[in-house]
Amino acid sequence: MKDKDTLLQTAGINTRLSHIGNSPFDFHGFVNPPVVHASTVLFPNARVMETHDQKYTYGTRGTPTTDALCEAMDALEGSAGTIIVPSGLAAVTVPFLAYLSAGDHALIVDSVYGPTRFFCDTMLKRLGIEVDYYDPLVGAGIEQLFKPNTRLVHTEAPGSNTFEMQDIPAISAAAHQHGCVVTMDNTWATPLYFKPLDHGVDVSIHAVTKYPAGHSDIVMGTVSANAAHWERLLDAHGQLGICGAPDDAYQVLRGLRTMGVRLDRHQESALEIARWLEGREEVARVLHPALPSFPSHEIWKRDFKGSSGIFSFVLAVDNPEKFKLKAHAFLDALRIFGLGYSWGGFESLALQVNLNDRRVTKVPTEGPVIRLQIGLEDVADIKADIEKGFAAVREA
Ligand SMILES: Cc1ncc(COP(=O)(O)O)c(C=O)c1O
Repeated sequence: MKDKDTLLQTAGINTRLSHIGNSPFDFHGFVNPPVVHASTVLFPNARVMETHDQKYTYGTRGTPTTDALCEAMDALEGSAGTIIVPSGLAAVTVPFLAYLSAGDHALIVDSVYGPTRFFCDTMLKRLGIEVDYYDPLVGAGIEQLFKPNTRLVHTEAPGSNTFEMQDIPAISAAAHQHGCVVTMDNTWATPLYFKPLDHGVDVSIHAVTKYPAGHSDIVMGTVSANAAHWERLLDAHGQLGICGAPDDAYQVLRGLRTMGVRLDRHQESALEIARWLEGREEVARVLHPALPSFPSHEIWKRDFKGSSGIFSFVLAVDNPEKFKLKAHAFLDALRIFGLGYSWGGFESLALQVNLNDRRVTKVPTEGPVIRLQIGLEDVADIKADIEKGFAAVREA
């Protein structure tokens, strides 16, 4: 086994995804881990029960199934430990509760996932934690925003819906000067295209609902911490009892095996469509970090190894009063794209983005913003569907 572990450290990403996170000979050679449904775990005697001197103690504290996924995420993220929670949103809120206390101040990127903002503005506020939102393009300028009680800096790159890139190394360096923990929602890139802990982040967050699960049928989150921040995260996880179900953990691990090949396809198709959209007169602007025309593209190029399958474009509409009408005409004409939340599954999805909650970010004004999740369908069919949308916009 040791030989294999060493080999996997230097192997290619698809080799690693095929083998990490599970030791078949721990379970009679079966290549997948068993799905262990657990609340009670028995102890052989009173002394072991008293000291908890065995690997598993209770269903909320991990099972061989959840451990297999945690080990896979640690291998991908380079983290000291990973917790599993029941949704991507919980993967953000649990670390916030782990590292923040009443009287603390947190800096949250303004292009953050909407429900994260809602949690900050409601529950964190009620708990006496003050939050300020900062411009995703702030870079080292974040230095000006720290207060004596700032304890946490939350990043998300690219930003939700508008895809601004953040200078993660510069922000992390400034945050550490002020003794803050740096968290990052790394769902868009997955650890295949960006490894936050290698760029100064302390805690990497994933909605594994998206590309890791990959089939639009699972909701789950993971949080992976470096050695300095692992113990506190694990304690909070135990205190809150917000654990993930073994069936879902099994499905996410199953999804990870094919995530590399799926992501290659999502990346390629999304880029082809993004480039094609750039040349269309119906489109004012394409918001995709891997396009050289995108304002923070240089940061993406410097730090990221790839781009995934979700991006937005701004529909060119002269009259702001017609933004909604034209956006709805586009969406209602689509047949291959479904109208639905989430992303990272096998199928294409579209929605009109609502940017009303932004406080400091400059948002596009040339027209309504449409977000596309490009699935695994054939690009020609996806383009034909978008053409139908454009035809409906012209008629609306
Ligand atoms: C960037 C980002 N983070 C977190 C989440 C939350 O994931 P979940 O749907 O599993 O709660 C989402 C969901 O869309 C997301 O887009």
